[in-house]
Amino acid sequence: MQTAPAPVIVAIDGPSGTGKSSTSKAVAAELGLRYLDTGAQYRAITWWMLSNGIDVADPTAVAAAAGKPVIVSGTDPARSTIMVDGADAAGPIRTQEVTAAVSAVSAVAEVRGRITELQRSIAAGTAEGTDPADVAAPSRGIVVEGRDIGTTVLPDADLKVFLTASPEARAARRSGELRGKDSADLATTRAALLKRDAADSGRKASPLKKADDAVEVDTTELTLEQVVECVVTLVREQQPAG
Ligand code: DC
Repeated sequence: MQTAPAPVIVAIDGPSGTGKSSTSKAVAAELGLRYLDTGAQYRAITWWMLSNGIDVADPTAVAAAAGKPVIVSGTDPARSTIMVDGADAAGPIRTQEVTAAVSAVSAVAEVRGRITELQRSIAAGTAEGTDPADVAAPSRGIVVEGRDIGTTVLPDADLKVFLTASPEARAARRSGELRGKDSADLATTRAALLKRDAADSGRKASPLKKADDAVEVDTTELTLEQVVECVVTLVREQQPAG
């Protein structure tokens, strides 16, 4: 009798604007894997803090509230969803207000502990933190994207990819997403992005960092299709044939 292959775990890390989300979703869709956007979880807890009057500049207040919101992530790459205390948070977590506050909130150790626990349980296929329908669906594994997945959350991932790109390319992509196309927008976006990178890389708790055994892919000169093809090939290479 043939046994099913063990689920594959793919960790994709890197700073913002490197194409992490688009790449991770496309790789998951192509390989029939689930997909987890861990940045959305940090945004969700930040949105909850802002909505509930917690002073996000006060790490003690943030730490005390870290266990309160119930965050549920959908893991279908075709339809990633995020709910906070039963409310759809997909829109609100993308506002400038949340983007400006998320680095401070995600630097708090209690927040990281709480979200890391959820991420590990989702990657293990248990029900905590994810949509019950996603747990019931058969899965060949998961692509998890973030900043510290390969280093801290899932150090035993089957494949670790670290995406990079020049600050110019990253700012251009981000401001394209934000639909601000003039040079003032580009300069502002570049400054905000570099500030957030510095905060995410410089924090004490689980900073943004390439794992020693991660494959680094510089996406500056690559199209999305080329990056996806590269990562799909890397996943297939480390999977037993069959
Ligand atoms: O990927 P994103 O821009 O949506 O992430 C938002 C923020 O969440 C990012 O600035 C830092 C934080 N984050 C983190 O600390 N660890 C992760 N694994 C993912 C995101």
